[in-house]
Amino acid sequence: MLQVENFHTFYGESHILRGLSIDVRPGEIAGILGRNGMGKTTFLKSIVGLLRPREGRIRFEGQDITRFRTEARAKIGIAYVPQGREIFPQLSVHENLLLGLEAHPDRPGKYDESVFDLFPVLKDMLKRKGGVLSGGQQQQLAIARALVGRPKLLLLDEPTEGIQPSIIIDIENVLWQLKERGDVGILLVEQYLEFAWRLSDRYYVMEKGEFTAEGEAEGECDTALLARLTA
Ligand SMILES: Nc1ncnc2c1ncn2[C@@H]1O[C@H](COP(=O)(O)OP(=O)(O)OP(=O)(O)O)[C@@H](O)[C@H]1O
Ligand SMILES: [Mg+2]
Repeated sequence: MLQVENFHTFYGESHILRGLSIDVRPGEIAGILGRNGMGKTTFLKSIVGLLRPREGRIRFEGQDITRFRTEARAKIGIAYVPQGREIFPQLSVHENLLLGLEAHPDRPGKYDESVFDLFPVLKDMLKRKGGVLSGGQQQQLAIARALVGRPKLLLLDEPTEGIQPSIIIDIENVLWQLKERGDVGILLVEQYLEFAWRLSDRYYVMEKGEFTAEGEAEGECDTALLARLTA
């Protein structure tokens, strides 16, 4: 579904992404693991078009989208939940969810309330301002807002970062449900290794802008891998 070939992304003259390629299949979860500053966020921003790789191509459902703007990539079904969530603090939960419809292919006036089956906590908070929610609730809102647009691919940048354990469990349950439904592929960037390992079909280890290991995320998480990611 998503094919990235040989991305090279720079900040000024700093060469950050050094030839990254990835292939995400429909309905699967691909986990990108890596320590701080390795280029994970830079990669996701390059996929959604917020950064322009100097080299490389990107295809989505067979279509070359290398020259597509960010809004066009959202419209064809690529949703992005940035690190630190970035919901609108001054808008209500309801208004935040309505904004998610901008990416919806049919632009309906209302969002599908089945989103509250995944995130029941949001249903009781519709009138509250996003800014008064806890960090974990904001993360849930950010994911819900992305889902309201009916994406085919969901990019999640460290959804467990700074989130309390009980809500991490809720988020994991949501991702399991999405995986079971099978209608959305997920590219999951994480430093919480066990969380990503449990959920992912394939894993990619990112070090200094390169994938230095990749494979099926099966069985127990490899201890050598663990050491490499926590060193
Ligand atoms: N706007 C920027 N201008 C210049 N350099 C940047 C910018 N943003 C990030 N970098 C650098 O690019 C590299 C990759 O950063 P990036 O944010 O992609 O890493 P990351 O893997 O997402 O890290 P973290 O786990 O801390 O979120 C780092 O060395 C960082 O300092
Ligand atoms: Mg990051």
